[in-house]
Amino acid sequence: MANLTFLNVASQKDGQDSKDKQEFLLSQASTSIAGKSSDAITVENVREGFKVLAVAIRKKIAIRYGCASCRCGSCAVKVESGALSVMEADEKQLLEKMGIYSGKEVRLSCRSRMEKEDVSVDLDFQKSYDPADRGFDSSTIKYPSS
Ligand code: FES
Repeated sequence: MANLTFLNVASQKDGQDSKDKQEFLLSQASTSIAGKSSDAITVENVREGFKVLAVAIRKKIAIRYGCASCRCGSCAVKVESGALSVMEADEKQLLEKMGIYSGKEVRLSCRSRMEKEDVSVDLDFQKSYDPADRGFDSSTIKYPSS
């Protein structure tokens, strides 16, 4: 299981110095219990409004994505705790088309933005489906190396 957690999401109005607002990779740890490996990645001081995918790419976190613009459906993650921005119509439409829409639980990381609260997402959800199997163009998709 790979969990990505964002802590201390701050708005631009919080009166911090601009350098304090930049996200900071707090920790990245792997554990193995009874043969099952688990990764926990924590990013701290993320600015409200940043997209999940943008932060993950910047921090070189292994995440699958393609178009980065709500067309290929490759970047979905499962929200484990907390909440992301309100889902827009195009995101919902694509998730429904792919058969993975489930309310606020599954989100496209290229579309969903940080709200001012801690949030944790399961990156392993990406292993549960392949956009190519659902008729989506997979030519641009970048798969993380494991
Ligand atoms: S990267 Fe293509 S839909 Fe998100």
